[in-house]
Amino acid sequence: MTFLFNSDARRGAVFADAFARELPDVPFMMDAATVDPDAVRYLITWTAPEDLARYCNLEILFSIGAGVDQFRLATIPEQVKIVRTVEEGIVRMMQEYVTLAVLALHRNLPEYLAQQRAGDWHDIPQLQAGSRRIGVLGLGQLGQAVLDRLKPFGFPLAGWSRSPRQIEGVTCHHDEAGLNEMLAASNILICLLPLTEETRGFLDADLFAKLPKGATLVHTGRGPQLDHEALLAALDSGQLSAAMIDVTDPEPLPAGHPFWSHQKIIVTPHVASVTQPATAARAVIENIRRHRAGLDPIGLVDRSRRY
Ligand code: NAP
Ligand code: GLV
Repeated sequence: MTFLFNSDARRGAVFADAFARELPDVPFMMDAATVDPDAVRYLITWTAPEDLARYCNLEILFSIGAGVDQFRLATIPEQVKIVRTVEEGIVRMMQEYVTLAVLALHRNLPEYLAQQRAGDWHDIPQLQAGSRRIGVLGLGQLGQAVLDRLKPFGFPLAGWSRSPRQIEGVTCHHDEAGLNEMLAASNILICLLPLTEETRGFLDADLFAKLPKGATLVHTGRGPQLDHEALLAALDSGQLSAAMIDVTDPEPLPAGHPFWSHQKIIVTPHVASVTQPATAARAVIENIRRHRAGLDPIGLVDRSRRY
């Protein structure tokens, strides 16, 4: 029952050490060309290889990241479990990034950077945290972790998910009426939704129009959820006042794209959160143990929901 690692060698070396220590009865391989395909029970990768069908005894296909939208789920045999990797490194980095973005937007950093470039020294009236309302789209592992990290700052916190949730200190919404209610009260909107057919193009002109005038956006979900033209129009009209964008479509963002030079946009190259090999190896090993014990792995994807 071999584990096949299909990603970069640096992270592979960390995984190999952890498997040798923690799961010595599972042979660890990094070379698909020399592995016996019939022996492969577990495969970790970012994109599913074209020849996935050769691993006819595959039990778990692990995504090396938190998302699975890069997989074509319909092409993955039904009996194969698809499992996301949400490990403490990814969670911590997302908490850091969103906190950075929220504080930057709360404290008017895009405007101050523009003022600095213009040699312009003047203060902007500062809203206090208790009056800056935050809404998070997606109350999954990352959405909840981010809200938890934001609690000490005193922002009123809200979130929206498909199913009803209860989170202490957070006003939770679901369904369309709940979404509209949250949007109307979000000065900073954070997107942490998975990419599915339902969330593709979700951040569009209609949604921006439902936010309070001058609201800001933090986008750390997936590029195709954001309508670039709609964001530019909303910033130009003043409906939105700034945005911090970590994911775009396409990636990399092409040279000359208006986001690069827009004074109200801060762009980062899909780095909000990156799988950390030591903690990811621990999470994957724990999931193999759970699977062998007849338990569902943590991060098991529900194929009907596609996340
Ligand atoms: P998760 O645990 O699967 O949570 C997803 C959340 O979104 C859940 O609360 C879910 O509702 C909600 N949701 C999904 N579809 C919805 C819909 N149509 N309407 C309303 N709510 C919906 O995912 P996660 O681990 O928090 O990760 C979220 C996403 O972050 C990933 O899929 C990935 O795209 C992105 N990400 C980005 C980076 C980066 O570096 N930028 C890094 C890691 C992850 P329920 O609670 O009702 O199921
Ligand atoms: C990164 O975007 C991930 O899905 O882990």
